[in-house]
Amino acid sequence: MTSSVEIRTLATPQDLSAAAAEEVVRAANEAVAERGRFAIALSGGSTPRNLHTLLATNARTSLPWDRAFFFWGDERHVPPTDPESNYRMADETLLSKIPVAPAHVFRIPAENPDAAAAAGAYEQTLRKFFALEPGQFPRFDLILLGMGPDGHTASLFPGTAALEEKSHLVVANWVEKFKTCRITLTLPVLNAARCVVFLVSGTDKAPALHAVLQSDEPGEQYPAKLVRPTDGKLIWLVDRAAASGLKPTQPH
Ligand code: 6PG
Repeated sequence: MTSSVEIRTLATPQDLSAAAAEEVVRAANEAVAERGRFAIALSGGSTPRNLHTLLATNARTSLPWDRAFFFWGDERHVPPTDPESNYRMADETLLSKIPVAPAHVFRIPAENPDAAAAAGAYEQTLRKFFALEPGQFPRFDLILLGMGPDGHTASLFPGTAALEEKSHLVVANWVEKFKTCRITLTLPVLNAARCVVFLVSGTDKAPALHAVLQSDEPGEQYPAKLVRPTDGKLIWLVDRAAASGLKPTQPH
């Protein structure tokens, strides 16, 4: 069981995206070399947009796209055409610009009015793709995650039911503050990954980043704190603005 945590502070959001693109390229080539395929879960939100653009342009020829399989860490409870859709963002900024077969793209079916049914369907998609036995969790080669100013990640929001989920792979999670359901991978899936990379940019994230990385605050209040791969790498890519609340750590 090997687990490591790395925190890298990049000067600007552009440097953060460039570092993230390098991590995606590294993980993709390593996965394909070792296992013949690369299973990645994309993050929603806005931070990954620039990373996606870099992957579709500068890094376009550095990845074995024909061996890449795309999933999502979470999705809003909206159709794929909705401006809020994480799928739509990824399709616009990445998938529509790279040579990826539709059969390699596994969208969360969030157009289903029954969010729990959508979550159940996605869980079956994961069980089939990863050929899971009952009780097993999928081991993504790379999961990209963002973090909200409240410390949420994916759609694991503070104080929500999904934080307690220990057996399901995907759940519909009611988020009171938005008065809506989100569909999200659960913590056991995030923590089964070979590598998790957080992308955190902006001063609005600084208090939560300090709480997650340098405080004894409970993870239930800052869910990003609960992401600790049991046998994998955890890499925090943060820009100087997001890191502005962190105390300098002694070099070891
Ligand atoms: C979502 C994301 C969410 C996001 C954070 C950060 O569906 O919105 O999965 O967890 O990563 O809210 O969002 P920004 O990158 O927009 O700051």
